[in-house]
This record gives sequence, structure tokens and C-alpha cells, in this order.
Amino acid sequence: MKKNDKKKQTVQELDVNKILQPDSSSFGTVEAYKVARTNIMFSLAEENGCKKIVVTSALPAEGKTTSTLNLGIVFAQVDARVLVIDADLRRPKIHQYLGEKNKEGLADYLAGFAGLKDIIRTREDLHLDYISSGHIPPNPAELLSSSKMEELLSKLSESYDYVLIDTPPVTVVADALVLAKLVSGVLVVAKQKQTPHDALKKTMASLEFAEAKVLGFLINETVQEKRYYSKKYYKYGYKYGYRYGYGYGYGYGYGQEDAKE
Ligand SMILES: Nc1ncnc2c1ncn2[C@@H]1O[C@H](COP(=O)(O)OP(=O)(O)OP(=O)(O)O)[C@@H](O)[C@H]1O
Ligand SMILES: [Mg+2]
Repeated sequence: MKKNDKKKQTVQELDVNKILQPDSSSFGTVEAYKVARTNIMFSLAEENGCKKIVVTSALPAEGKTTSTLNLGIVFAQVDARVLVIDADLRRPKIHQYLGEKNKEGLADYLAGFAGLKDIIRTREDLHLDYISSGHIPPNPAELLSSSKMEELLSKLSESYDYVLIDTPPVTVVADALVLAKLVSGVLVVAKQKQTPHDALKKTMASLEFAEAKVLGFLINETVQEKRYYSKKYYKYGYKYGYRYGYGYGYGYGYGQEDAKE
């Protein structure tokens, strides 16, 4: 496949999430993201400088990554300087949704194996920058809670208006809570009619305990029921697993996919 074809495919792939073609039937979804953008802007209006936002949810597969990316795109549409970070160092997907390879990224930087210039990538077509997860490390929570992460966010604050951070689910691992302490606020994605009340309650209690500023909920309504609930998807969902004590194996391969779980 030629490079250009790949880019075209990427756009189509993202269109599945109904965001890149505002003139199509995706209008309602695009508008919903724009409303979310406005609400986030208002809730952070008093915050000076760069707004750093953690996007998380209670459970796996509730639309965190999709929402982070789509919000990044709508923020960039109002000429904000936007950076999206994949801080799901266990099951990274940002690069994949962008149709890119997971090259050196956040984990490599935090581990001291890469510099800032090596990890920031630009998507001219979307008018945003992103940092992929990089190599999957054995100690994500440790890396994310290191002083290097704090330093990174403060460096990035000099160059961006919005930094959107994709994270794993709160009830599964503590990574999002660790990051919640370092940012302006947390956006909680919940799945329409699916996220159990208990899981959400637990998530809110954890965020409160972490003294996070919860900006609000983003209710993700599945737009393509058939695709989302296909057998294939369930298989994928079933295989979902966050890696505890997973061998590091630097050079093991970028963003190990589901098949390797
Ligand atoms: N509103 C939606 N309509 C249809 N499909 C959706 C919607 N939101 C997400 N999906 C699909 O559901 C799957 C999971 O979404 P996503 O990766 O954004 O979830 P996640 O919460 O980041 O998952 P994880 O916990 O694995 O990080 C993806 O295939 C995505 O395309
Ligand atoms: Mg995700």
C-alpha cells in the first residue's frame, strides 16, 4: 500500500468514529464533541496558560482513546495549540487510531531513552501534535508518577494551549489517578446505558481521594451498534488485560497488540 493510500485509510478509519467529516451524517456527533469542548473551556476558564486534561473512565473499552483524539481534533479546529499524549502505557492505541506506528514515545522519554524532540510528532492534517506511548514498560505507574513526568508536563505547558492525556481505566489500574494530580482536570468518559453505577461510583471516589478536579462526564453513545457488539469485538474485549509485571524486553516490539495478550 502506498503511503498516500494509508493516509486516506486513516481518515476513513477515524470517520468510523464520526468526527472528521462534519458535513456528513456525523454532524450530531461532531456537534456533541464541540459542546464538550465549550464546556471544558468554560470549566477551565479561570486556569491560566496551558490546560492539561486527563481523559479516563471506569472500565475498559468505554471510548477514552476515541474521545481523547476527537476532542484533540475539535480543540485544534479553534486554532488552539493541541498535544495529545498516549499515557496508556499498557494498552496504547492513539498511534493505531491515527494509522501510525508506535515509535519512541512517552515511556522512552520517561525512562531516559529519548528526548522531547524525538517523541513529539505532528499531524499536519489534523493540526495537532501527539506523543505515542513508546515501548510498553514493565512499570507504567512508576514512570508516570516520576518527577520526569511532572517536568515533561511543565515543559509542554510552554508550547501548547491544551494537552489531552489518554489513560487506562480507573478501576483497573491507578495510572490515571497518578496523573490526575498533575493536571488541570479530569474528564470521565462513561458509556451510555452500559457503565455500571457501582463502577462509576468507585471511579469518582478514587478521583476524589486523589484530589482530582473532575471537569465532567463525557457520555459515549455507541453509534454503530452492530460493529461495536460484533463477535469479533467481544473476543477482543474478552482478551483485554492490563499487564502487571509484564516483561519489559526493550526492543520487544512497539505497542504489542491484542493477539499477543
Ligand atoms: N461512540 C462509538 N461508536 C462506535 N464505536 C465506538 C464508539 N466509541 C468507541 N468506539 C469503538 O470502541 C472501541 C473501544 O474504544 P476506545 O479504544 O476509544 O476505548 P477505550 O476506553 O480507550 O478502551 P481501552 O480501555 O482499551 O483503552 C474502539 O474500537 C472504538 O472505535
Ligand atoms: Mg484506550
